[in-house]
Amino acid sequence: MKRITVHLPLKKISYNVEFSATFDELEIQLQSQLGNRKFLIVTDSNVQKHSDFLKRFSSKEIFAFPAGEVSKHWSTVEKILNRCFELNFDRNSVIVAVGGGVVGDTAGFAAAIFKRGIPVIQIPTSLLAMVDASVGGKTGIDCAYGKNLIGTFHQPERVFCCRGFLETLPESEIKNGLGEMIKHGILGSPKHFEDLERIANSHPTAEDIFPLVPDSVAIKARIVEEDERESGARMKLNLGHTFGHAIELLHNFKFPHGLAVSIGTMMATQYALEHDICREETADRIENIFNKFGIDITCALPEEKIWEAMTHDKKVKDGHIRLVLPTKIGEVVVQTV
Ligand SMILES: NC(=O)c1ccc[n+]([C@@H]2O[C@H](COP(=O)([O-])OP(=O)(O)OC[C@H]3O[C@@H](n4cnc5c(N)ncnc54)[C@H](O)[C@@H]3O)[C@@H](O)[C@H]2O)c1
Ligand SMILES: [Zn+2]
Repeated sequence: MKRITVHLPLKKISYNVEFSATFDELEIQLQSQLGNRKFLIVTDSNVQKHSDFLKRFSSKEIFAFPAGEVSKHWSTVEKILNRCFELNFDRNSVIVAVGGGVVGDTAGFAAAIFKRGIPVIQIPTSLLAMVDASVGGKTGIDCAYGKNLIGTFHQPERVFCCRGFLETLPESEIKNGLGEMIKHGILGSPKHFEDLERIANSHPTAEDIFPLVPDSVAIKARIVEEDERESGARMKLNLGHTFGHAIELLHNFKFPHGLAVSIGTMMATQYALEHDICREETADRIENIFNKFGIDITCALPEEKIWEAMTHDKKVKDGHIRLVLPTKIGEVVVQTV
């Protein structure tokens, strides 16, 4: 199957993202990557319960914490570190993160700080984690002052994406991930967008979606690489996120991230249309793809409230908001408003 390499020459790092259809294939890939090194699988309670993959390992090889964003917390990191000490981990030992973005960020952060850094292998199990969280090396946890405020960059040693995980993923989580895939199409690839249009229906299956995952990962990987040389490219990935973040904030972060991003992407598109930045045909295609996937982009909040939340965001400097706006499918501009 396909393989994508992420090259970060300035950091002297490069790693592969590999794809497999079945857990048998995934197990072979993982065992060959681990060799005879000590390892600990970090996962969450849902993935442990629903995924057959973890039944292939003994309970002492697995550390599972309760599923949910609330676990993306220092206390979980401490428990992971303690397990690593109990297992007499050395600098060659490996943490294997098997889960959604919460597991990837928390386990990745524990790997980054255990004895000043040990390798992490990322095995994303949610669609969002496959196409977004597993590439780019951001790791971290939440705290009382906000989300993702404690953390570091720690690039994975390797990333394995397996179709088998998508088969147990709830439909709401599939839609969350699709929101980020649509975003990738709009900001970087007309072909990816067209491929998504082709499979768009309200109950897409793992067989429909998984073949498009490598392209989505490649779009993010290219931007992460570009950003290493000429900082700023990563900004494009914020399409839909400035509006989306405000929506999440107004819901006290009890709103699905991918859905907030989808609504935010539509708001950015609407803004672009109103300011002659994109044409009606582009806006129609974007609205249609969300509708065809059954992603509800109607926002119950009044637009003024969202703008107000955006201007109060800590990231906003001197009242200027930087918006990522689509010009056409596959291309965006960054505008300060
Ligand atoms: N590091 C990054 O670059 C980056 C990028 C985007 C998001 N994130 C972070 O990722 C998190 C969101 O990720 P997420 O949407 O994957 O959330 P998540 O990890 O909470 O997973 C979503 C839900 O799906 C369940 N789940 C995951 N895989 C499953 C499977 N195969 N079968 C059944 N259930 C499964 C989880 O237990 C959870 O209930 C946020 O904390 C966000 O900050 C990080
Ligand atoms: Zn996002």
